[in-house]
Amino acid sequence: MTVAAVIGAQWGDEGKGKMVDMLAEKAKYVVRFSGGDNAGHTVVNPHGEFVLQLIPSGIFYPTTTCIIGNGVVVNPATLLKEIDTLNSRGIDTSRLFISDRAHLIMPYHMLIEKLEEEALGDKAIGTTLKGIGPAYVDKVARTGIRAGDLLDKKYLKERLALALNNKNKIITKIYGKPALSLEEIYTQYCRYADQIAPKIRDITAMLAEAIERKEHILLEGAQGMLLDPDFGTYPFGTSSSPMAGGACLGAGISPNKLDHILGVFKAFQTRVGAGPMPTEINDETGAMIRERGHEYGSISGRPRDCGWFDAVAARLSARVNGFTSIIITRLDILDVLPSLKICTAYKLDGKTIDYFPASIAALDKCQPIYEELPGWEKPTSNARTFKDLPAKAQKYIKRLEELIGCTASLISVGKRREDTIVRKAIFS
Ligand code: IMO
Ligand code: MG
Repeated sequence: MTVAAVIGAQWGDEGKGKMVDMLAEKAKYVVRFSGGDNAGHTVVNPHGEFVLQLIPSGIFYPTTTCIIGNGVVVNPATLLKEIDTLNSRGIDTSRLFISDRAHLIMPYHMLIEKLEEEALGDKAIGTTLKGIGPAYVDKVARTGIRAGDLLDKKYLKERLALALNNKNKIITKIYGKPALSLEEIYTQYCRYADQIAPKIRDITAMLAEAIERKEHILLEGAQGMLLDPDFGTYPFGTSSSPMAGGACLGAGISPNKLDHILGVFKAFQTRVGAGPMPTEINDETGAMIRERGHEYGSISGRPRDCGWFDAVAARLSARVNGFTSIIITRLDILDVLPSLKICTAYKLDGKTIDYFPASIAALDKCQPIYEELPGWEKPTSNARTFKDLPAKAQKYIKRLEELIGCTASLISVGKRREDTIVRKAIFS
């Protein structure tokens, strides 16, 4: 039995979906543990190309059970649409279950987020406007509504009335907008309840039994460590923990059960939304990487900022997550570059620093210090072993491993499952 967590190690969009789709072949369970439909996990496999927002990327295997964990916030409308889309493309979703403890995204979460982001003007976070932040606020404020509440409509109405009373004050009195209707939301969520109820379960029991039976479990991260509310570029981040610690909390699995903590890094890096990324490439090389890698939001279509690999941020990521190994993705996107830069330290107020500052004000001033490596200028997509890679690509990977302090168990050189160099099997 092995429990492996796939963790976004940068600012999200590292290619977690592809890796989970590949690794899930041997997993009995795949569990999403954080975020909500702010995620966009692109999967290309023999069934076609898919972008998953809530449903775990293990859904394509008939023997894998997929779970939306307690740490996820669920928009029932997105979930039902995703189920429909998968079903219409021939993918069976009968093995999908939702934790009774997962919180629900409500219409007022989306509305309030939009009003808040508009009010922030040029200080906006640049969120995905899916209501993610406000749903987690309610979870912590103890005014949230959980998937399990859908199973008791009287209780659902009580909880909704309590929450909406307060939200409508914010909507009308602070923002001067019309109040939302209790009856309308209640009726809508009763309809969702009828459709989703059979999938709502006590997940802790399911996973405990799986562990007992010594079955493989894969925990699928969303977002990336640099969007974490504690260790990311606060306040420019998301509202749940995408980290290894978040995986245990959001799936209900003890930390002592994690065998592998896999940090997924792009061979370069990207970010969407507002907030600093010190190694952003603002010239034609950045634009070229964006076009070659089609680095646009998989749901929103927003262009992603592209940057050189930041080993300062990566070291923090490795330290606070405790990666047992790393996964390097999108190596092939760099195939045409004559030379590559890696940021090894920052210059801050005339001093060289080797740590990732907590403060955005400091991070905004950080100038990356680069080391330059020659590009390999050869295709890598056909490589299936580390030795198949051009010598200069091997050198680049080795340098990343050295700087992060962790070896790469998997290297992705293309979109498909088979476009992967497996140096160490995760589930044996
Ligand atoms: P995956 O799982 C990249 C970013 C948003 C914004 C910030 C806060 O595909 O890697 P939110 O809507 O979460 O409150 O927005 O976080 N963000 C992501 N960026 N990949 C993601 O998910 C993201 N999920 C949220 O762009 O900057
Ligand atoms: Mg994504």
